[in-house]
Amino acid sequence: MTTTAPATTICPRSDFDVYTDSALLDPWPGYRELRDAGPLVHLDRYGMFAATRYDTVSHVLRTPEVFPSGEGVMMNDEMNQVLRGNTLCSDGEAHDASRRVIARPLTPKALRPLHDEIRAEARGLVDRLTARGSFDAAGDLAHHLPVTIVSNLVGLPEEGRERMLVWASEMFNCFGPMNERTQRSLSVLGEMMEYATTQAVPGKLKPGSWAEAVHDAAARGEVDPGKCPVMMIDYMGPSLDTTIFAISSAVWLFAENPDQWDLVRENPSLVPSAINEVLRMEAPIQDFSRSVAVDHEIDGVLLPRGSRVIAFYGAGNRDERHYPDPDRFDVTRNPTDHLGFGAGPHACVGMNLARLEMRALFEALAEKVTRFEVQHSERALHNILRGFTRLDVTVH
Ligand code: HEM
Repeated sequence: MTTTAPATTICPRSDFDVYTDSALLDPWPGYRELRDAGPLVHLDRYGMFAATRYDTVSHVLRTPEVFPSGEGVMMNDEMNQVLRGNTLCSDGEAHDASRRVIARPLTPKALRPLHDEIRAEARGLVDRLTARGSFDAAGDLAHHLPVTIVSNLVGLPEEGRERMLVWASEMFNCFGPMNERTQRSLSVLGEMMEYATTQAVPGKLKPGSWAEAVHDAAARGEVDPGKCPVMMIDYMGPSLDTTIFAISSAVWLFAENPDQWDLVRENPSLVPSAINEVLRMEAPIQDFSRSVAVDHEIDGVLLPRGSRVIAFYGAGNRDERHYPDPDRFDVTRNPTDHLGFGAGPHACVGMNLARLEMRALFEALAEKVTRFEVQHSERALHNILRGFTRLDVTVH
């Protein structure tokens, strides 16, 4: 796809605004327009390039020497300064070192002792909720495992555990361009950083927790101790909302596609494949960005050094150039190469845990629920994240 030959094609431009309420609530037609316009499109409103085709998004994510994360992966300069140096926003050896520490409790082997607890918790929850006959699949179902189990494993002092959900959501809002949503969320971000610096510190953290392990690793010289506060954000930010939104989107997709739920109920070994399909269809994180370190050409379009590309995971996942009939929810498709967890060196380090939580819930639901009926739904209106803040369902 890329060559060193001089760029020959003028990059298409668009004044389409990807971050309006309506575009955020229903991004698919806009994404299609951008994909059809070219492999890269200059978003005139934001002065950034959009990568929306599967191959282009994948190339951007897998070519860190051209598209580093160290200059930040957000769409505004303020945030790109704030998180500088955490795992998400670093490159090369510094990234390897902090990722090794962050990933330690999240490998399949490290998670094995949690399997029984997560399954038992999921089963108990599903028994309680299905006995009620109707519940909020966002607040009652999706929140439960991340909030009770994961936030405990992270191990922040009590007050922080309660605020983690608010902080995480507001922090992701700040990943967007400097629009009203980002500006509103910035004050909460200050609170989160202050907490990460003054409260998420040795002596206050739960003994044996993931957060404490980061400080221990710094004490052993594995990472720079000065990075501990931003590394707290590696856990505080992405460990809750992402999974919560994935779970609520899954229930919504199963409610909309009862034939696909029937397939899962008849054959629960399809649950892992169905989870991949949910993350392809409704990527909980829709987009992050990368800076461009050197002049670079993609399919004849020149990206100048110093510019920024937004990689739309959610758009790449719906590219018909890669997935036939991409808007069809098909639990047998098993798209293991979807971009919902990113790709390349920054691919999600928490994916094993997220899959474990989702699998436990949907295996338990498959035993108990024949139909989900949505009574009322409210989508999150969020710069980056996609999912439901409320999803009232009746189950049969
Ligand atoms: C369904 C749930 C989840 C989704 C959809 C998701 C999505 C993503 C995506 C798209 C990235 C790539 C970022 C990039 O390209 O720059 C990422 C990275 C990351 N995720 Fe997740 N995530 C989920 C769950 C989790 C959980 C449960 C944790 C922690 C317990 C976590 C921790 C991280 C961290 C630390 C990174 C940065 C990795 C690096 O930069 O090397 N995520 N995630």
